[in-house]
Amino acid sequence: MKKDLISINYLSKQEIYEIFELATQLKKEQKQGKSHNDLLAGKTIAMLFEKPSLRTRMTFETGMYQLGGHAIYERLIGEKIGDRETVLDVAKNLERWVDGIVVRSFSHQNVINLAKFTNIPVINALTDLLHPCQILTDMFTILEKKGRLEGIKLAYIGDGNNVCNSWIYGAEKTGMILKIACPNGYEPSQDITANNLFISNDPEEVVKDADIVYTDAWASMGQESEKKIRNKAFQAFQVNKKLLSNASPDVLIMHCLPAHRGEEITDKVMDGPNSIVFDEAENRLHVQKAVLNLLLKN
Ligand code: CP
Ligand code: NVA
Repeated sequence: MKKDLISINYLSKQEIYEIFELATQLKKEQKQGKSHNDLLAGKTIAMLFEKPSLRTRMTFETGMYQLGGHAIYERLIGEKIGDRETVLDVAKNLERWVDGIVVRSFSHQNVINLAKFTNIPVINALTDLLHPCQILTDMFTILEKKGRLEGIKLAYIGDGNNVCNSWIYGAEKTGMILKIACPNGYEPSQDITANNLFISNDPEEVVKDADIVYTDAWASMGQESEKKIRNKAFQAFQVNKKLLSNASPDVLIMHCLPAHRGEEITDKVMDGPNSIVFDEAENRLHVQKAVLNLLLKN
C-alpha cells in the first residue's frame, strides 16, 4: 500500500527513526562526494505550491536530482488547487505521469483529499495546519546535536501556528518535552491534541529550563493583513538576549525560517553562537531525501 506524509501524527516512532537513519546515511554520502543517484533513477515528482518557498522548493528539487530523479515545480499564483479542475481530477491526472506529489496548500483538507484520490504518495510541504517535513528535520537536527530526543526540553515561543502544531505531534511521538508560550488568543489549534500539553502566556517561565528555544513568524503566509495587530500582540514574545537571560547559557536556538529579523528574533540571537538555524535549513535536504526514498522507492 502507498504511504503518504501528511502529518507526523500518522507516523510511528519506528518510521520516524527509519527516516533519521537513512537521512544520516545520505548526508554522510553526500559529504563524502559519494553519489546515490541510482536510488530514484527515472522517478518524477510533481510539486504544487500555492504559497512561496525557498527552503522547501530548493531542497525537494535538489534532493530529487541527487537521488537520480526529477522534480516538476508548479507555482499556483492567485489560484488554489481545485479551482481550475477538481482535486480529484488533479489527482487522477498526476498519478498517470509521476511517482509522487509534494504539495504546499492553504487548505489542509486539500492535501488529505489529494492523498485520498490518488494511488501515488503525497507529501505535505506545509498547510495552514501542519508542516511535518520541517519538524521531522528539526528533530533530526536536535538528534545530531544532542544525541537523543527523549527528555530534551524544547520551548516554543510565539504563534500557535502550523509549525507549532507539528511540534506538538513530533514531541509526543519522540518523548521530547515541549512547552509553548504564546499570547492569549494565539494558542495552537484545538484540533491538535497530545498528552501533557503545556501552554503558557509567560515566555520567561517557558525558556527557563529549556535545551532548545524555537520560534517562527508572528504572521504566517496568508496572514499578512494581520501583521500590524500581531506585531503588537507578540511584543513580549521576541526571542532576544533579554528573554534568553532566563535560559541556560548553552541553550540552542532554532527557527524554521524565513526569519523576520527584529520581529520574532533579533540579529544578535539569530547570528549568535547558540543559533543552529542554518544547520536546520541544510538538513531539510537530507531528511526530505530520506522521505522521498522511503515513499517512492517501490
Ligand atoms: N521553512 C520553510 O519551509 O521554508 P520555505 O517556506 O522557504 O520553504
Ligand atoms: N508558519 C510559517 C512557516 C513558514 C515555513 C508560515 O506558514 O508562513
